[in-house]
Amino acid sequence: MLRNIWYFGIASRDVAVGRLVHREICGQPIVFGRTSTGEVFALRDNCPHRGAPLSAGRIRGDEVECCYHGWKFDRHGCCTAIPALVEDDPVDLGKITVASFPVRERQGMIWIWFGDGDGADIAAPEVPDVGEGAPQIVHALEFPVNIDHAVVGLIDPAHTPHVHESWWWRRPGERRDKEKHFAPSPLGFDMTSHRASSNSKIYRLLGGTPEVQIAFALPGIRIEHIRAGKNFYCGMTACTPVNENCTLTTHMMWWSMPWLTLLKPLAMPFVRSFLGQDQAVFEKQAQGLRWDPALRLTGQPDQQAKWYFRLKNEWERSTAAGKPFQNPLTETTLRWRT
Ligand code: FES
Ligand SMILES: [Fe+2]
Repeated sequence: MLRNIWYFGIASRDVAVGRLVHREICGQPIVFGRTSTGEVFALRDNCPHRGAPLSAGRIRGDEVECCYHGWKFDRHGCCTAIPALVEDDPVDLGKITVASFPVRERQGMIWIWFGDGDGADIAAPEVPDVGEGAPQIVHALEFPVNIDHAVVGLIDPAHTPHVHESWWWRRPGERRDKEKHFAPSPLGFDMTSHRASSNSKIYRLLGGTPEVQIAFALPGIRIEHIRAGKNFYCGMTACTPVNENCTLTTHMMWWSMPWLTLLKPLAMPFVRSFLGQDQAVFEKQAQGLRWDPALRLTGQPDQQAKWYFRLKNEWERSTAAGKPFQNPLTETTLRWRT
C-alpha cells in the first residue's frame, strides 16, 4: 500500500452532520465525522483509554464522545474532557491524543491522507466538468483481493468480453482490434481522447459522436470522461485498500443529461449487474490466489498493469528518497483485441 498519497475515504453523503461512520482503510480503523459547521474529520477509531471504537460513541457539540467512559476528543484528536476526573485532578489532557488524518472534501467525495505531513503539496483527484457537484450515483463494493489485483482488474481491457458480456453492453463473442494512444499524466497515464468504440451499445445513447478519455492515477483511480455534443458523462472508480486481502471499490457517476437522471432508478440494476460481474470474478480469483500461483503479465493487453507496477515502484522509491515523483512512462500506442 502506498504512503504519502490521497485515498478515497468515503462519499460525502455518507457522513451526515452528527453521525460517526467506521471504515477500515489501509488496515487501520478510521472514524469519519462531521461537525455542526459541516467540517469533515477522520480519527483513528480506537479510544486511547481502553480501545473502544469511537464510532460507537456520539458527537456532542463538535466533539466525539467515547461510548465507554465518555472521554471527549475534538476533530483534531485532542482529548478535551475526562468526565471521571475531579476538578483539581492534575491529569494533563493535552498529552492525550488519538491520531487524526488529514481529509479533503470536494465534488461529493472525502479523501484521506496516509503519510507524512498534511498532503498539501499533492492534489486529490478531481473529476472534470462537474464543478462542485456530487455524484448522482455512488455504488461501493468490497473485492476480496489486495489493491494490486483490484487495480489490475480495473485497467484490464482483456476481461471485458468475458466478464461483461451482456445484451445491453456487447454481443457475445464479438471482438474487434483496438488501438489506443496513451500519454503520461502527473500521477499515472491517460488513454487520450478517442471516439467511443462502436461495439459498446450504451455509448450510443449519449447522442452525437462520443469522445472518450480515460485517466488512470495512483493509488488506483480511474476516471472515464465522455463528451458528446453538449453532454458529458463522468465515471470515477476509486480503489481503497481495506487491508492486505480486501479492497473497497467505489464507483461514482456524474452526468449532464436530465433524461438520464429520470432514468436513474431503471439504470441502477444495470450498474449493479455490471459491477457484480467484476465482484464475481474477483471472488473466483481470490480462491485461485490461495495457492500462491506464479503470475505473468503478458503482451499489450497487460501493458497498463505493468505501468501500474512501474508507477508504484517509482512512487515508493521517490517517497523513500524524499524526492518529488517523476513519472517514468512515455507516450505510446497499444493494440489489443476485445
Ligand atoms: S475506552 Fe474510551 S473512554 Fe474509556
Ligand atoms: Fe470489469
